[in-house]
Amino acid sequence: MPTESGDVLNIVGFAGSLRSGSFNKAALNAAVGRAPEGVKINVLDISDVPFYDGDVENAGDPSSVKRLKDAVREADGLLIFTPEYNGGASAVAKNAIDWLSRTTGDSGSPIAGKPVAIATATPGGRGGPEAREHLIHVIGFMTDKLFMETLGIKSISGKVDAENRLVDEEAVEDLTNWLERFRDHIQDSRQNHDAA
Ligand SMILES: Cc1cc2nc3c(=O)[nH]c(=O)nc-3n(C[C@H](O)[C@H](O)[C@H](O)COP(=O)(O)O)c2cc1C
Repeated sequence: MPTESGDVLNIVGFAGSLRSGSFNKAALNAAVGRAPEGVKINVLDISDVPFYDGDVENAGDPSSVKRLKDAVREADGLLIFTPEYNGGASAVAKNAIDWLSRTTGDSGSPIAGKPVAIATATPGGRGGPEAREHLIHVIGFMTDKLFMETLGIKSISGKVDAENRLVDEEAVEDLTNWLERFRDHIQDSRQNHDAA
């Protein structure tokens, strides 16, 4: 359903985990199903995005990278669910972000000026605070519209069902409320931009 202004916000998201049973994928899929009023969330598949390589880039972005950059450039917001590995974000997430930090021809970086929200799901009891801090640090250099309120879903292995769907009521509610606040952040950043 559209917002008061009549727009439907297009948010794209990716999970920084490649494994099929990923909890971060489960949380991202739950976000799709729980997209707040006025928002559509589309999942980006980054499984075929290669390691960043300046030689590959100089020869022209591979189609997987082009698709990723185009999708983010056209979106109103970006949602990243990253695993926490050894106190930081996963290499898969960081690699996608590194590609997104790069310009293409005359177009700037797709992530520059983009509202971005960061979340982590962990089987452990801390919810990946270091991975989220890591990405705040990294992405804070790329956009002035970073949503500073991150989301950590802890102990997630006990919150999904046999089909890896997030079913824990409290976790789903927290996710839904957080997505609403991210939507409001996107709308506020647009208004501030229009007023400037
Ligand atoms: C190399 C490695 C390092 C990890 N380091 C952390 C960590 O620092 N903090 C944490 O909470 N979990 C850590 N874990 C556990 C991950 O949170 C867990 O494997 C999680 O399920 C990965 O996300 P995914 O389910 O989306 O693939 C680590 C796992 C691996 C394989």
